[in-house]
Amino acid sequence: MPFQLSMFHLSAIALLLLSSAILNHGRVTSQPEVCVSHDQPNPLADLFPNNATGVLNATLLIIPIALETARRLIPPQYGILERAYRDLLPDFPAGMYPVLMQAAHDHDVQFKAYGITIDDFSRVGFEFPFLDLLNDGHSSFRWAPSQLITATHDIALQGSRDYGTVVSPATWDPPCDAYRALPNGNTFFRGQSTTSPTEFIELETTTRHRLAAAANPYPLELFKNITNQPTFANASSCDNMIRWFNTTMSAGTAVVQGRVRARNAFPYLGGEERAWDGVWGVQVATPFIENNYLSCGSMRGYRGTGGAGDSFVESESRGGEL
Ligand SMILES: *[C@@H]1O[C@H](CO)[C@@H](O)[C@H](O)[C@H]1NC(C)=O
Ligand SMILES: *[C@@H]1O[C@H](CO)[C@@H](O)[C@H](O)[C@H]1NC(C)=O
Ligand SMILES: *[C@@H]1O[C@H](CO)[C@@H](O)[C@H](O)[C@H]1NC(C)=O
Ligand SMILES: *[C@@H]1O[C@H](CO)[C@@H](O)[C@H](O)[C@H]1NC(C)=O
Ligand SMILES: *[C@@H]1O[C@H](CO)[C@@H](O)[C@H](O)[C@H]1NC(C)=O
Repeated sequence: MPFQLSMFHLSAIALLLLSSAILNHGRVTSQPEVCVSHDQPNPLADLFPNNATGVLNATLLIIPIALETARRLIPPQYGILERAYRDLLPDFPAGMYPVLMQAAHDHDVQFKAYGITIDDFSRVGFEFPFLDLLNDGHSSFRWAPSQLITATHDIALQGSRDYGTVVSPATWDPPCDAYRALPNGNTFFRGQSTTSPTEFIELETTTRHRLAAAANPYPLELFKNITNQPTFANASSCDNMIRWFNTTMSAGTAVVQGRVRARNAFPYLGGEERAWDGVWGVQVATPFIENNYLSCGSMRGYRGTGGAGDSFVESESRGGEL
């Protein structure tokens, strides 16, 4: 019953999508689609027609950095909830902090009740989880200060900038998928800024099967926890993205290990090219529901969804032990 909802209750992104959709006769397009994604369709659009839903096909890697470095990079007003990540990762090396490298393809994003779909887009960035945004000593938030985002996608670019994110428009290899296979069997993903020629982020990873995957230090629970933390950039508002790890889509989850290379893409790299080798993570596709531009204070004590059913599907084909 969408029209019983007052407009006031629609999130700002809904209004943005709605008004663009009206202007574009029902379909929000920024550019004609140049290629077809391999991603599976959005299974949540029918279940949550009054919400923004979609699919994120992602490579998620943990880059361990010194806590001192993290303390220097993260704005001083946000405490680091070391206890929260040690709870999930008891063996994480002392004096270290887990940065998330998130490289993803956003697919089949819909606002079903209004007949709205938006074009797919790609994005990549360094993200800083387990931050005490509200200074309450226990609610974990994730700081995502900068992103490369598909250059032709005005809605995604503006949607991210509205959080105060430093956004670089970018082109992608592959252009419309989460990664592609290289001749050596590895997977590859690269975002290249269109406004600053030296700025890029690139990932090359190898899928680790059973024996090798046993050395993976990070349980899938860690990625579920981090990707479900409310996200902010300048803390004027927070993004609540609910990612489901319990659908058949996640059955192809793979343990991966590889290399991240980046230059300039994160304001604190100081213009240098940096590389991190041998970092571990997963390739996982999850459907999501996204509630945009919430007051961060309203997310105090947010614990993800929790509860029965909020589990994982067994990993099968590509996976190692997770
Ligand atoms: C994720 O992307 C890869 C690379 O394009 C593709 O092979 C895989 O099927 C996708 N997974 C899902 C669940 O869409
Ligand atoms: C869907 O959107 C409504 C209105 O913004 C919100 O109250 C509700 O929590 C959202 N549903 C989910 C599952 O997040
Ligand atoms: C955060 O960014 C938004 C969007 O650019 C802006 O409107 C807002 O004033 C900024 N807030 C702070 C505290 O810098
Ligand atoms: C993440 O894990 C911490 C530590 O166990 C917990 O306090 C928090 O509620 C979890 N957050 C989410 C979003 O699952
Ligand atoms: C799957 O997980 C989501 C959130 O993580 C939960 O809300 C939902 O009930 C679960 N669905 C099933 C079928 O278990």
